[in-house]
Amino acid sequence: MNNNTYAQTQLVASHLTMNYGTPSAHPALSDVSLQLSAGESLAIMGPSGSGKTTLLHLLAGIMKPTGGDVLWNGNSYAKMSDAQRTKLRRSDFGFVFQSGQLLPELPAIENAALPLMLAGVAPAEAKRRAQEWLVSLGLQDLLNRRPGELSGGQAQRVAIARAMAIAPGVIFADEPTGALDQRTGMEVMQLLTRVAAQQSTTLIVVTHDARVASFCSRTVTMQDGRLGDAGLASASAGASVAEEPANGVFTAAPAGVQGKVSVR
Ligand SMILES: Nc1ncnc2c1ncn2[C@@H]1O[C@H](COP(=O)(O)OP(=O)(O)O)[C@@H](O)[C@H]1O
Ligand SMILES: [Mg+2]
Repeated sequence: MNNNTYAQTQLVASHLTMNYGTPSAHPALSDVSLQLSAGESLAIMGPSGSGKTTLLHLLAGIMKPTGGDVLWNGNSYAKMSDAQRTKLRRSDFGFVFQSGQLLPELPAIENAALPLMLAGVAPAEAKRRAQEWLVSLGLQDLLNRRPGELSGGQAQRVAIARAMAIAPGVIFADEPTGALDQRTGMEVMQLLTRVAAQQSTTLIVVTHDARVASFCSRTVTMQDGRLGDAGLASASAGASVAEEPANGVFTAAPAGVQGKVSVR
């Protein structure tokens, strides 16, 4: 579905600083630089308030930094208009958030088809592609369920289908397991990393959970708005072995979530 089959520097953040304008001891983000290769999976870890979501939103072009810039395949966000950045987001990026991201009045299939329609794909074709993803994520019997009739894990699968359906270059996931019990969270992470790897889609996961981070091939840690370690050292794309998280407490995907995943 996309052609990012070889490693290349795809996303470059240089010297990002974010100051929300509120009086505080330090800015939300200070001088963060980071490079990602196509197809790489990166976990951004760190405690609450350390700047993870701010960094994710800047990388995705959702908001503008106070300083610094982001390059997407060599194209500077700072040189784009707001409309151009919005268009880029809709065509090239998929998003999975903690919860509450699906429109409650729409059935799963229409929720999953929505970004395609926003990107200009005709409704019938958008629904066809959305259905393909929902089926491949085990939701074939739930296509017409509304979000209120889905479990948390099922709703996250719909969100993954919605993100993947546009064949994005990057999936941005902010605490994608934050509202799930541990087992369901690991299942969702397994699915997310599996489909991203299958499509060579770059994956950026924000989490404060080392077990979640261990599904990614590289981990960086935020602390007080700064990047703690190895931000500039780009790991080889597609590496399957998780780096040890900074706190060293967890290094492997838990047993029991490796096989076929049931819908919970
Ligand atoms: N919209 C905002 N306006 C003002 N301050 C904000 C806003 N969003 C985040 N912050 C502040 O920026 C810092 C980093 O927040 P955030 O990026 O959400 O951290 P994390 O995702 O790691 O919890 C925190 O001090 C937070 O209070
Ligand atoms: Mg956050």
